[in-house]
Amino acid sequence: MSYLLVKGGAPLCGEVRIHGAKNSVLPILAASVLAADVCAISNCPHLRDVDVAVRILRHLGCIVSFSDDTLTVDSRTMHRCDVPDALMREMRSSVIFLGAILARMGEVQMSCPGGCELGPRPIDLHIGALETLGAQFAERGGALHCTARQLRAGEVFLATPSVGATENSMIAACACDGETVISNAAREPEIVDLAHFLRAMGADVCGAGTSTVTVRGRCPLHGCTHRVISDRIVASTYLCAAGAAGGQVRLSAVDYRAVSTVAAALAEAGCRLESDGDAVQLTRRGELRAIRPVHTAPYPGFPTDAQAILMASLLKSRGTSVFVENIFENRYRHVDELARMGADIRTAGRVAVVCGVRRLQAAPVRCTDLRGGAALVIAALTAEGESRIECIEHIDRGYADIARDMRCLGGCVERVET
Ligand code: EPZ
Repeated sequence: MSYLLVKGGAPLCGEVRIHGAKNSVLPILAASVLAADVCAISNCPHLRDVDVAVRILRHLGCIVSFSDDTLTVDSRTMHRCDVPDALMREMRSSVIFLGAILARMGEVQMSCPGGCELGPRPIDLHIGALETLGAQFAERGGALHCTARQLRAGEVFLATPSVGATENSMIAACACDGETVISNAAREPEIVDLAHFLRAMGADVCGAGTSTVTVRGRCPLHGCTHRVISDRIVASTYLCAAGAAGGQVRLSAVDYRAVSTVAAALAEAGCRLESDGDAVQLTRRGELRAIRPVHTAPYPGFPTDAQAILMASLLKSRGTSVFVENIFENRYRHVDELARMGADIRTAGRVAVVCGVRRLQAAPVRCTDLRGGAALVIAALTAEGESRIECIEHIDRGYADIARDMRCLGGCVERVET
């Protein structure tokens, strides 16, 4: 299996362009089957999770081609309504296909996504929302069978602002007669991007980005072209890397508002951040200092996906920082690996206490999950010596080429294919 070699100790200096957002392109690829037509999606990153979504689309009978950064989906030949178990296991967020296949085919079969490295990943909110819109579910031996003779508009209320459940509701509501109102909807930028895509297909979607999204369904839908927004978590990762290693980096194709909570934390720690147009620059010369407690929360709160990467940037800061992970139950699996480099982190349930240390030492470490793996790269950039990072297939799910990007920023990161 491939691994990364990271030589730490030097400040970063360089520039990189941020690629398209994984968590935007996945629901958009699912929604592309709503119309039996052709959709061209540009700024699409080459990621393992995108590969899985393409394999699902091809299994359903779609014709999918990838040219440079544009992915074209022709769903006119779609004829299946099942997602194979193997593909569900490869990517638990395949559940995002539920609403789209149901809307197009009137039925869906997929295995229950089960848990993942972040802990249990229930889909009760997805099921409840689609039942409100007229779907019936039957579960047999871990397989979910969903049918809907006719989807109907309804009042969907989400007990928690689930990103995926919001997306499934929006997509399915496009096939419902009447007006569907989704209350306590997630407000992430990826939800807004999905709404832009649905409107480009001819759907009538309002309120995306607020807690109440309204969809007037049964509009005639057609293919479209759409450019995916850039990935705010990838941008946050590289800002945290520069905050940790010191130096100066400039990221282009960044929406500053989408990284503002992470940028504010890095500014509090002593970094200087400047933005102009679609670029953001981070400079860190002096020592990093500990920051006020970080509580992860639904957008626009501090993103859970940035918890591990900000933690990694504070390992050598002066003082003690506290993290409270409120979204997922088991999102501190990177802590033990960081400790192998000499980090001083104590966890108790949802709380992690990071005490800054003077030095970190390179070590052989293993990625436990996508963002935990990115955190190991950040820590290794500030450790003395050369670290070997294994199990980087986790990182490949959400970063097109983290080694190349880090080299553009002046980091000594090499990918070794075995
Ligand atoms: C999306 O996952 C993202 N994935 C995650 O990014 C991100 O961490 C998460 O939103 C939160 O922002 C994609 O967009 C592909 P949720 P999702 O439904 O939709 C609970 C990454 O690193 N919940 O908002 O699965 C759930 O257990 C990934 O890029 C229910 O209880 O997240 C969690 O505790 C990781 N029942 C909380 O809600 C449900 O039916 C938030 O989950 C659904 C969710």
